Amino acid sequence: MRRIRVSLRKEVDASYDIVVEAGLMDRLAKELSGLVSGGRCAVVCDFTTRELFVPALLDRAEDAGLSCDVLDVPPGEASKSLAVFEGLLGRLRDLRYTRKDFVLALGGGMVGDLAGFTAGCYMRGLPVVQAPTTLLSQVDSSVGGKVAVNLPGAKNYVGLFHQPKKVLIDVRTLQSLPRRELLSGLAEVIKHAVIADAGFFEFLEQGREALLTLDEEAVVRTVATCCAIKAGIVERDEREAGPRMVLNYGHTIGHAIEDAAGYALTHGECVAYGMRAEARIANALGLFPESDLARQERLLDGYGLALDPLDMDPERLIDLAHGDKKNAGGRITFILPTAIGQTTRRDDVPLDLVREVLEATLARA
Ligand SMILES: NC(=O)c1ccc[n+]([C@@H]2O[C@H](COP(=O)([O-])OP(=O)(O)OC[C@H]3O[C@@H](n4cnc5c(N)ncnc54)[C@H](O)[C@@H]3O)[C@@H](O)[C@H]2O)c1
Ligand SMILES: [Zn+2]
Repeated sequence: MRRIRVSLRKEVDASYDIVVEAGLMDRLAKELSGLVSGGRCAVVCDFTTRELFVPALLDRAEDAGLSCDVLDVPPGEASKSLAVFEGLLGRLRDLRYTRKDFVLALGGGMVGDLAGFTAGCYMRGLPVVQAPTTLLSQVDSSVGGKVAVNLPGAKNYVGLFHQPKKVLIDVRTLQSLPRRELLSGLAEVIKHAVIADAGFFEFLEQGREALLTLDEEAVVRTVATCCAIKAGIVERDEREAGPRMVLNYGHTIGHAIEDAAGYALTHGECVAYGMRAEARIANALGLFPESDLARQERLLDGYGLALDPLDMDPERLIDLAHGDKKNAGGRITFILPTAIGQTTRRDDVPLDLVREVLEATLARA
């Protein structure tokens, strides 16, 4: 018998910068040309972000010495599919892209996930730069390296960890964002504050007017704070072995609602319901004080995340929250707040309590 050891212990420095600025798009071409010398840039976008942001990029590309190819896909979650992924791979191949080149994800979280996954797979990995253009993607999906496409009925089932080379965030892009999409991102903003930063929560309480009118200083501070919170969590747990789960606050129930609604609600709307329900569970367990619960409720209301009653069966939501775990006798894991800025992880929440809280939350969200 012979045994050959393949020694692969490695230390890789995959560190990257996140730049948050109002007006960054004006010098996007320049930022990119400095990143990968001589390489070409495949700009992955959807039809909407193509129209909004690609002309200005192309106008300045030549002067910056940047060669771009635009690869656009229809907007909407349906484009986060294996078929569209395969189409993008084919286009990169036709254009003779190699590992000297790179991908720019220019759009919301759909584009970021699709472009990042395509970049991570093509020729075993091209660099990707994330330029997120929705609030949700600026505060959440563009940071952390999780990229994926969906299988029919199974969100994010085919994916990778593929960290970006850089994240370039222009908060001015939010000016064209439909209000409902803005509010969807604000739910994730509030989540970051509740799980990690009481001072930021206070800022959100006081800065409502500024944020909702997209005051640039307030938005830069908000986006940068969320990115710093997420970066801190990802640094400790890049591959979601444990601590990164804290980002799932509001998502255990939020995802179940998202499934049950058949995606008629935005992700943030579902997360807002989820946070209300999960905070009430924490309160009923004696973990989360009544006064903090009331502050979270007021903040969600104040940011337009007070939603209509939902006609959903709590039992079905509990089934959905269990996922495949139920048959294996699995429990539902919850991230529960213990104070504004602090959480704990629990998998012993009585289902009767979940049912009771869901009934109350759905009836009067
Ligand atoms: N990778 C992660 O860690 C992570 C985390 C959270 C969410 N996600 C993923 O993110 C996706 C949702 O992201 P999203 O909410 O940004 O959706 P999205 O990318 O579909 O964008 C929403 C809509 O806004 C449009 N749009 C984008 N930027 C715009 C702008 N500046 N002005 C006007 N319209 C604009 C888009 O064309 C689209 O119609 C989901 O696929 C979700 O799974 C990933
Ligand atoms: Zn989310």
